[in-house]
Amino acid sequence: MVARPVHILNGPNLNLLGSREPEIYGTSTLADIERMCAARLGEYDLEMKFDQSNDEGALVDMVQAARSTAGGLILNAGAYTHTSIALHDALQALEIPAIEVHLSNIFAREPFRHHSYISPTVQGVICGLGPKGYLLAVDAIATLIKE
Ligand code: DQA
Repeated sequence: MVARPVHILNGPNLNLLGSREPEIYGTSTLADIERMCAARLGEYDLEMKFDQSNDEGALVDMVQAARSTAGGLILNAGAYTHTSIALHDALQALEIPAIEVHLSNIFAREPFRHHSYISPTVQGVICGLGPKGYLLAVDAIATLIKE
C-alpha cells in the first residue's frame, strides 16, 4: 500500500524566512526548508505536501483536510501557536501522527511564547534547532507512520 503524504504546514510570517530577523530564524528560506524536507522524506519513500498560510482559518481548513488526505502532519504554527484555540481543536480531532516544530527556542524567548496551544495535541515538539528541527520532525513522523 502506498503511504499517504506527510503534510508540512507553516503558519504566519514563515513566508518571510531568510530575511525575517535572521539573527533569530537564520538565513534559510522556506523554499530551502521545503527542498530539505522533500529530500529527507524521499529517503523514507514518503511523499510531501508543503504549505504556508498567514490565515488562521486557512490553517484550520488544512488541518481538517489532513485527517483524510495525509499520513502525518508537521506543523509550525508560528504566532498562532500561542493564541489559537481553533487550531488546538482542529488538531485534537486529528487521527494521524503530528509533530510541532519551531525554528527558535520558544522557551528562551519572551514569556508570551512559552505557552503553546498546539503542544497538548501532538505526539512531540521540536524547537530551537533551526531548519534541522524540520528534518528531525520528518525522521520522527516517518517512524510514527511506519509503527
Ligand atoms: C516560531 C516561533 C513563534 O513564537 C513565532 O511567532 C514564529 C516562529 C519559530 O519557528 O521559531 O513566527 O514558530
